Amino acid sequence: MSWQTIWRSTVGKKVIMAITGIGLMLFLVVHLIGNLLLFVPDGGESFNKYGAALKSMGPFLYVIRGGLLAFFLFHIVAAIQVYASKKRARTGRYAVESSKGGPSKLSVASKSMIVTGVVLLVFVPLHIWMFGMNKGAPPPTVMIDGAELKDIYTMVATSFNQLGIVVFYVGTMLFLGFHLRHGFWSALQSLGAMSPKWTPAIYTAGFVFALLLAGGFVVLPLYFYFFIDAPVASAGGAL
Ligand code: HEM
Repeated sequence: MSWQTIWRSTVGKKVIMAITGIGLMLFLVVHLIGNLLLFVPDGGESFNKYGAALKSMGPFLYVIRGGLLAFFLFHIVAAIQVYASKKRARTGRYAVESSKGGPSKLSVASKSMIVTGVVLLVFVPLHIWMFGMNKGAPPPTVMIDGAELKDIYTMVATSFNQLGIVVFYVGTMLFLGFHLRHGFWSALQSLGAMSPKWTPAIYTAGFVFALLLAGGFVVLPLYFYFFIDAPVASAGGAL
């Protein structure tokens, strides 16, 4: 089967959404594990060293970023097209929506997938602009073991000492939780991995996965806001 045939069919697009979605979920797991270094009580040394280690991957890092971006774009374009074709098919056909049963099809998460997806689509560029690019200003730096490193710890700590940013992150992570909960089992279903026997276990696994991941990302801003004072940046600006 050719690439075009897969892309043109709704089933093919769902499989692409599933594969790219699983890839993005794996990124989030790795990202959260890395971010847990923010809890190490060493003034950000571990977290900044981790950031520097990622940068030291050089061209390989750009390959990963390129892959991530491609996954992100394919996921979004396929999602929009599947949503649009479903909407076209439904228009005027059903006066009342009905569920085929089970806790699935008409759950809040399922119906709001496109809404939660759009929220994340707005969040990700803003997030990269804030933490990846320090809002366009030169990033603060710190000397660690004789090397000048980008002080991403100070960037995070300073941002999460601002109530508006904390509210924005906590709110968005709730949307992320809903998106992941539905996305988890939906991906497995599209890949044909859902058997009636395993369905309840997969729903539960999706719920626990979403709770752990979104919960982990929610705890971080709250932890900084309530327990950690923003350090004074040593260089750079616009935090
Ligand atoms: C409390 C939550 C989060 C914190 C503290 C955090 C922290 C960071 C930091 C510090 C960076 C920049 C790293 C660097 O420049 O070296 C970054 C990059 C990034 N984050 Fe997050 N993040 C959080 C949540 C998220 C979420 C929920 C998503 C996706 C839905 C996400 C997606 C990304 C992406 C795509 C990048 C760019 C990766 C790259 O440049 O290679 N982050 N994050």
